[in-house]
Amino acid sequence: MQSKTRPIEEVLAELDALQLRDPEVHGKRLFGLVYPTGREDIEALVHGVYDRFLFANALNPLKFAALAQVEKEVIAMAGDLVHRTATNVHGGSMTSGGTESILMSMLVSRERARARGVERAEILAPESAHPAYAKAAHYFDMDYVRVPLDGSYRADVAAARALVSEQTCVIVGSAYSYPHGVIDPIAELAALAGEHGIGCHVDACIGGFVLPFMEMLGHPVPPWDFRVEGVTEISMDVHKYGYVPKGASVILHRDDDWIWHQTFFYEQWGSGLYATPAIAGARAAAPTVAAWAVMRHLGVDGYKELVADLCATVERLRTGITCIEGLEIVGDPIGPLLALRSDTVDLYAVADVMDERGWHLNRNTDPYGLHLMISPAHRDVIDELLTDLSYAMTHHGPSKGKTARYA
Ligand SMILES: Cc1ncc(COP(=O)(O)O)c(C=O)c1O
Repeated sequence: MQSKTRPIEEVLAELDALQLRDPEVHGKRLFGLVYPTGREDIEALVHGVYDRFLFANALNPLKFAALAQVEKEVIAMAGDLVHRTATNVHGGSMTSGGTESILMSMLVSRERARARGVERAEILAPESAHPAYAKAAHYFDMDYVRVPLDGSYRADVAAARALVSEQTCVIVGSAYSYPHGVIDPIAELAALAGEHGIGCHVDACIGGFVLPFMEMLGHPVPPWDFRVEGVTEISMDVHKYGYVPKGASVILHRDDDWIWHQTFFYEQWGSGLYATPAIAGARAAAPTVAAWAVMRHLGVDGYKELVADLCATVERLRTGITCIEGLEIVGDPIGPLLALRSDTVDLYAVADVMDERGWHLNRNTDPYGLHLMISPAHRDVIDELLTDLSYAMTHHGPSKGKTARYA
């Protein structure tokens, strides 16, 4: 740190200069990491929340009673969307994001398995599952077993059946998956879990605020939520398609009491009982309140409107892509996430041209190709994107060797 105090204008100017290196987060050219709506009302509301709760700490619900109520109401609203019928809202908790929700869920399944006498529990997850499951295995001393995918990039249920062991404590399915945007066969995976009396975690971190509204709008959505017998946990991120800033996810348990497996209690110090339902101690309150406020503002009708618009944008993009020679959509993605492949063109070289033109498309490794998460604000740039993509398919050089990475 420098020794002298500096005026805030100077510090902010320095920050502005630094930020020029990052993509613009209202991000019409960014196809992942952020979920821009282009909606001024939502952004104004979030600013209003942050003004009010910037310095609040969600660690102690006894001190911040309003915050505790808001958190309970977010969990209840999320639970309603995925048909959670348990009566006690404490069967779920808010976390900082999808990864923490998944960590908590895996810990709960491990603890339930330990209670049955399983010493070293095993997570069974599709090859397409988010790395957070492998991270959970690493953190919590569990084994991680990967289930191969079938020809449509969904978990192969027969392979899963062959891989279940005495140690398996949970079977994972995504609704939908990050790499390919397809829903695993949740009903079959949950039935398999039910046969063995083990957990079935549905990762709806991306899909949780998309699929319920698609279903309400009449799109065919295969069963994936708590209406499927055998589904024990669902993770859903408000900070993705719930349209709030980072720091808000929900983990829901079918059984109210399972929450106690993820809650840590400690009294052996000089300051009384310390109890937290997830990994963090002190926690930013604003993301939770923003989740509450955006859900309260939009309501079911508001989300349906956004999802309807999003589906129309995705349809335009899909139609445009199928008209570009050599470019193909991977599998049959259900929602606003497309993976692209090509038999004839090096798509990393195409991505280089798109990078030069100011687009931020993601690179996939399996299958080798491109990856786009589509947000409502992209409605305005689809034509330009397709024009540039079409150009890049025929005007690229060799790949510059940029790899796919999230680190
Ligand atoms: C399917 C899925 N699960 C979990 C996560 C992890 O969420 P987070 O990055 O909020 O920790 C992601 C992130 O993109 C995801 O796509």
